[in-house]
Amino acid sequence: MTAKIIDGNKLAQEIYDELDVDIRQLKERGINPGLGVVLVGEDPASVSYVKGKGKACARIGIYEETIQLPSDAPEEEILRIVDSLNRNSKFHGILVQLPLPEYVSEERVTNRISPEKDVDAFHPVNMGKMLKGEPYLLPCTAHGIQRLLLKSGYDPEGKHVVICGRSNIVGKPLAAMLMQKKEGANATVTLCHTKTRDLTSITRQADILVASMGSPRAITADMVKPGAVVIDVGINRVTDPTAPKGYRLVGDVDFDAVKEKAEAITPVPGGVGPMTVAMLLYNVVAAAKEITSLQS
Ligand code: GUN
Repeated sequence: MTAKIIDGNKLAQEIYDELDVDIRQLKERGINPGLGVVLVGEDPASVSYVKGKGKACARIGIYEETIQLPSDAPEEEILRIVDSLNRNSKFHGILVQLPLPEYVSEERVTNRISPEKDVDAFHPVNMGKMLKGEPYLLPCTAHGIQRLLLKSGYDPEGKHVVICGRSNIVGKPLAAMLMQKKEGANATVTLCHTKTRDLTSITRQADILVASMGSPRAITADMVKPGAVVIDVGINRVTDPTAPKGYRLVGDVDFDAVKEKAEAITPVPGGVGPMTVAMLLYNVVAAAKEITSLQS
């Protein structure tokens, strides 16, 4: 049996339709939700992600401004820009695209973003609130995966969710979110990483398997339990001379083989990616509501 292909673009559109109502209400109150993006350097993947986020903002009526800095911009300059975005009431959300150049401390930069405008939810205050189950903003990819599962009819409650990859952006927050004693969570979570022994014996136990290790087609069919739901977070460029751009995007899952074994699977592109962007805009709207409700 071939797996159901989960359409992330369609599900993201449902989120945009919900957001449309909130954005209209904010605008009726004279509030124009705004996102400030900081992009350092010209890494092609980062440039492409930032463009995608900007386009999505424009489509649903969120004001977006990208501040682009050269790849040798000093850390002090990046911090000064974050400070000015923190102070500027035009912006309810701030995002610094990662990765930053090697000489810049990602921790110092992300920690400088005001927690109330931290739409990536990478700040320790937001991470801590999420871990305790009292979230303000939630990390976009993890939240996108949770919403995608629920909208597709795969509630993680009581399920064994195996996550491959322990990044601060995806693996750790997703584990923390899905283990919460809450509706839409209540999963048994196993987090695997590069030092995990006998990875296959663990992934084969997964009812829901999340691949976020950043390694092209690393999850092969023998690693998947028949009937599992497979979520592919990877976006890897692999050279392909037959492709118009000379490369092709593939996930962390060997899609063609795994789709013959899984109950459902997300494609790359068109799976988790659009949900991440949708949840970013969701956070901008949530931050705009929160920040402006404090001003009277
Ligand atoms: N780089 C890769 N993913 C992300 C993300 O979700 N947010 C930011 N700021 N940078 C990223």
